[in-house]
Amino acid sequence: MTSRSLFLLPGDGIGPEAMDEVRKVISFMNEKEAAGFSIDEGLVGGCAYDAHGQSISDADMEKAMAADAVLFGAVGGPKWDDVPYEVRPEAGLLRCRKDMELFANLRPAICYPALANSSSLKQDVIEGLDILIVRELTGGVYFGEPKEIIDLGNGQKRGIDTQVYDTYEIERISAVAFELARTRRNEVCSMEKRNVMKSGVLWNEVVTATHKARFSDVKLSHMLADAGGMQLVRWPKQFDVIVTDNLFGDMLSDIAAMLTGSLGMLPSASLGAPDAKTGKRKALYEPVHGSAPDIAGQGIANPIAMIASFAMCLRYSFNMVAEADRLEAAIAAVLDQGLRTGDIMSDGCKQISTAEMGDAILAAYAG
Ligand code: IPM
Ligand code: MG
Repeated sequence: MTSRSLFLLPGDGIGPEAMDEVRKVISFMNEKEAAGFSIDEGLVGGCAYDAHGQSISDADMEKAMAADAVLFGAVGGPKWDDVPYEVRPEAGLLRCRKDMELFANLRPAICYPALANSSSLKQDVIEGLDILIVRELTGGVYFGEPKEIIDLGNGQKRGIDTQVYDTYEIERISAVAFELARTRRNEVCSMEKRNVMKSGVLWNEVVTATHKARFSDVKLSHMLADAGGMQLVRWPKQFDVIVTDNLFGDMLSDIAAMLTGSLGMLPSASLGAPDAKTGKRKALYEPVHGSAPDIAGQGIANPIAMIASFAMCLRYSFNMVAEADRLEAAIAAVLDQGLRTGDIMSDGCKQISTAEMGDAILAAYAG
């Protein structure tokens, strides 16, 4: 039988609840479809800090590196607001991204037809929306050095972060964006702030050169990232693939998430480069939403982003395209039935729990 190893890092807050619903899908696929998933599980974020004073242990990090794919829930919560910066919950996620070299973060924003009226934007603006944000994930201001607070000795301190990009980092992320665009509507819009930042000038140059050398069949446009944010809420359907750096990608993808009605809907895939020998990419799949400590433990969280992240895992790590399509169709079908968790509730629909949403999606998947 095929063996496909998954390493689960449910994390904090609503992470574990959402992950439980993915477990149901995995068990079903193993039992009924001989999918051959093996599951191991570790701790990340605040729960890892509580257990062993680190945001992820070296042992769990090794397991993450060895797995075919990592499924990640969410990290953080007020309980850990005062832990040292190096071991704050988010550091566990950033370490996974950096150590696994997951430079390409794919954040699709799709508006399910059934949710077109639950966005804060007008229905015609977001109906049929299908865009993909490709965010650089291992560089830029998130990791650039120096990164510190220094004492200036005159009663003042100075906080420093460093935005830095090398040619190869921009080249490889733009190549991912162009390749994905070819499987979609064949358009890429690159966003940076070349009017203010040297890293933006280089970004623009390298994207343009990569396009010219290898992807001139794809339509390329450029936009300043602030204008890009504005255009995303004005008329998001003008975009197909957006490629941008780590920090702008963080912000623009939250904006894109709200277009779809709720942060609870958006999955993401973080991919490394294909291995020279096996062709396999290291990969981590996580919802775009956070740990939502305010609603954790109540069984009301929306598990859709987590389940949709698993669908991306089927597609990108295991090439199980038919299963991924079916799982995504199951999510759409359940929304069409009028079933909703609280965050996407609207008039005339039925509000259900996290577990009920998971069960309904599994039932639709099982057909
Ligand atoms: C995200 C999150 C993370 C980020 C946090 C939790 C470190 O906001 O994945 O978008 O800033 O990248
Ligand atoms: Mg974010």
